[in-house]
Amino acid sequence: MAAKRVMFSCVFSMLVALTAAATMPSAVADGEPPPDYADALSKCLLFYEGQRSGKLPPTQRLTWRKDSALNDGQDAGVDLAGGYYDAGDNVKFGFPMAYTGTLLAWSIIEFSEELGPELAHAHEALRWLTDYLLKATAQPNRIFVQVGDPYSDHNCWERPEDMDTLRTTYQVNDTHPGSEVAGETAAALAAASIAFRSSDPAYADELLSRAETVYNFGHTYQGSYGTSLGKWVCPFYCDYSGYQDELSWGAAWLNRATNSSQYQNHIVHGIQQMQMKTQLDDTGREWFFGWDNKEAGIYILLETQKNDSENSRLAEEFVCSLLPQSLSKSVEYTPGGLIYNTQGCNMQDVTGFSFLLLVYARHIINVGGTITCDNNVQVPPSALIDVARSQVKYLLGDNPNNMSYMVGYGAKFPQMIHHRGSTLPSMDTHPERMFCRDGEPYFNTTAPNLNLLIGAVVGGPNDGTDNFLDSRYCPNQTEPTTYVNAPLVGLLAYFNKHG
Ligand SMILES: *[C@@H]1O[C@H](CO)[C@@H](O)[C@H](O)[C@H]1NC(C)=O
Ligand SMILES: *[C@@H]1O[C@H](CO)[C@@H](O)[C@H](O)[C@H]1NC(C)=O
Ligand SMILES: *[C@@H]1O[C@H](CO)[C@@H](O)[C@H](O)[C@H]1NC(C)=O
Ligand SMILES: *[C@@H]1O[C@H](CO)[C@@H](O)[C@H](O)[C@H]1NC(C)=O
Ligand SMILES: *[C@@H]1O[C@H](CO)[C@@H](O)[C@H](O)[C@H]1NC(C)=O
Ligand SMILES: *[C@@H]1O[C@H](CO)[C@@H](O)[C@H](O)[C@H]1NC(C)=O
Repeated sequence: MAAKRVMFSCVFSMLVALTAAATMPSAVADGEPPPDYADALSKCLLFYEGQRSGKLPPTQRLTWRKDSALNDGQDAGVDLAGGYYDAGDNVKFGFPMAYTGTLLAWSIIEFSEELGPELAHAHEALRWLTDYLLKATAQPNRIFVQVGDPYSDHNCWERPEDMDTLRTTYQVNDTHPGSEVAGETAAALAAASIAFRSSDPAYADELLSRAETVYNFGHTYQGSYGTSLGKWVCPFYCDYSGYQDELSWGAAWLNRATNSSQYQNHIVHGIQQMQMKTQLDDTGREWFFGWDNKEAGIYILLETQKNDSENSRLAEEFVCSLLPQSLSKSVEYTPGGLIYNTQGCNMQDVTGFSFLLLVYARHIINVGGTITCDNNVQVPPSALIDVARSQVKYLLGDNPNNMSYMVGYGAKFPQMIHHRGSTLPSMDTHPERMFCRDGEPYFNTTAPNLNLLIGAVVGGPNDGTDNFLDSRYCPNQTEPTTYVNAPLVGLLAYFNKHG
């Protein structure tokens, strides 16, 4: 997450002026060769190896990364080695990590056939995460939700392999609850149980039983981890949208994983709470889908499980709000055709929304349903898939900068991503210990990063234009995160198979 002091504002005077494309990129062949989706998919998964914390296995393919943070959890007397660094820093933030797990699992559940030979890598990426969640939830009524003091971490530009920043362990429990982390962790465990059900039923059972325990903890002791842990989690991964969405989301995944409707009341209650909040806000509908806000994902997930008319209306309202021609459009598009929804990490919304559009469209095609926007406009499901495809193509280089926003993919991609490990020399070339300030020259330089974090997708353009500044000083644009790639796994699998 946004790291170091930003020492100048990310203005674009240094950029070449861009001529705006007059129209939305069309899904039909425009003379450009199609992206190499298979290559992008395998890189999208390789990225997770670069984010690994803990003891690396012999199969590690990104070999410039080494073992790190082996003693995590020691201050709390537990073993919390493993899991993922969430972004360009070295903190293990449990809330977005769990969300990453849910979306990786959803990608696998929905697109396991399309993943083909990459299914094994997708399972590996997910298991690295769920193994960690099992450690973090091993004690009843307690979740270890974060390892690493974020202030200490963000004050230094250090490699994970030899960091000397404070690895403080943070927890929620019955006196200091965290219903959003519990709900999301339950969602991840439940979704992963489905993803592993056929290949490893014993592991799936373990994940599912833990998901239920964790959910019950989050539901019994209600409160936000932002209140319980204050400045240690806010403003880093503060749950601004409230925890009702995570309780509903966790319940929806539990229903799906258990083939039951035992959590139905929880889902309905959560949705009612979210709806009341929306009405109180009364500011026209804005949609998000990411580590903070799960609402759109809940409607799409429920829609693929059953046809309930109120939920169907909300799912339809959401997808209509993304279509470029829709009167109820709630997002903007850049002149080059990228969905623009936030000045933060915009690519999270791009991959998350595109994933939901694709899942919904496939469901409508499967059940022979229809989509109606703006009261009476019939929209073919293929139009949703076209939007999703245009976003993925943009991300991979079909954009006014001719630039791929995935590191290591295509001829031109970001060289100065905001990522500590990628910037600093590998232990292979610089085995001597590097301390807090030793990284500064590597941060300051305009030379490219020393290590390719292959597959890392950056935040990308984030001001409504297609402008992009390749600078470590602009984390909103150049920092990769685990939750941008998770839905992209499913998207790339689909487009690789079906074009
Ligand atoms: C419960 O969590 C709070 C907040 O993390 C922590 O300060 C407290 O020590 C924990 N209680 C127990 C009994 O571990
Ligand atoms: C749920 O149903 C699916 C499909 O019938 C089945 O494969 C799976 O084992 C079931 N899961 C559980 C936990 O019973
Ligand atoms: C970066 O994102 C945050 C929101 O996450 C926003 O407040 C800030 O203005 C953005 N900074 C830039 C330079 O775009
Ligand atoms: C849902 O059910 C309604 C009527 O009960 C039907 O008109 C609609 O097509 C169905 N939608 C889907 C996606 O099955
Ligand atoms: C991108 O590629 C197109 C076609 O190959 C070319 O016309 C255009 O000038 C390129 N733009 C940039 C910014 O390189
Ligand atoms: C690097 O950044 C520091 C501030 O963190 C600054 O004092 C120093 O002048 C910068 N060096 C270069 C070469 O830009």
